[in-house]
Amino acid sequence: MAQHAHIIVLGNEKGGSGKSTTAMHVAIGLLRLGYHVGSIDLDARQGTFSHYMANRFEYSTKQRLALPTPLHFPIERSKADTLVEQEEQDRDFLLMAFEELNAQTDFIVIDTPGSDTFLGQLAHSYADTLITPMNDSFVDLDVLARISSDTQEIKGPSVYTRMVQQQKDIRQTRDGGTIDWIVMRNRLSSLDARNKREVGALLQIIADQYNFRLAPGFGERVIFRELFLKGMTLLDLKEAPDHHMTLSAVSARQEIRELLRCIAPETLKGYPKRSPNI
Ligand SMILES: Nc1ncnc2c1ncn2[C@@H]1O[C@H](COP(=O)(O)OP(=O)(O)O)[C@@H](O)[C@H]1O
Ligand SMILES: [Mg+2]
Repeated sequence: MAQHAHIIVLGNEKGGSGKSTTAMHVAIGLLRLGYHVGSIDLDARQGTFSHYMANRFEYSTKQRLALPTPLHFPIERSKADTLVEQEEQDRDFLLMAFEELNAQTDFIVIDTPGSDTFLGQLAHSYADTLITPMNDSFVDLDVLARISSDTQEIKGPSVYTRMVQQQKDIRQTRDGGTIDWIVMRNRLSSLDARNKREVGALLQIIADQYNFRLAPGFGERVIFRELFLKGMTLLDLKEAPDHHMTLSAVSARQEIRELLRCIAPETLKGYPKRSPNI
């Protein structure tokens, strides 16, 4: 297969699990490590990822900051008349964005919508790395597996897990490639340690059964919402004129670095030629 950018897809059928927030932090994290990065927003209707980028442009222009920013493409779902035409157009646009970004980048970070769309599924089949953020609760485990509520026995894969398995097969048949699936817990609370442990133990069992790796995850932090409005990430704070580095921000940055370590960009693309600024 020709040399191509490593594709990282953020996916989870549930909205509000942290896909767009994580997509932004991964994209900026890789840029700050010195890689060339492109990004694609397949949830252009909601547009969180694209709004995040637009806020970044506006804020950095106003503050005269030179913040690293990926080459970004929002892709709207086709409005063609028939389903066949829609799918054809969706596929064409995605492949066009890949072609454009492949030539210029090491990594492409793709944010997908919470709902189940053709474009979202197609992107999964191109993922080299798939990151599924999930809110840290028993309820949200049903994104990955069907679990009996009384015995906590795993009864089978969820609709999403089955979709990922299917896209893995499609990927394998298309180019012999594999998808490295990483699940990360988001909004971890420091209050309920017992619950956190129990969710963690069950997640490990599901991970072994359905072949994903577990990343350490992000804590629940108000700062994520504040950063969105400025288009900033935790990795930009040193350059933000009106931000004070708090202890919470320091630990949050550490969590982002742990996720990047889990993706292991240097094993995928070698060490970047530009020097890191992270
Ligand atoms: N770890 C976190 N702590 C606090 N708020 C978070 C965290 N992760 C995400 N959020 C907030 O939750 C909301 C949904 O996140 P978002 O990334 O848009 O999810 P998705 O893309 O999966 O719908 C946003 O307002 C975001 O700022
Ligand atoms: Mg989103």
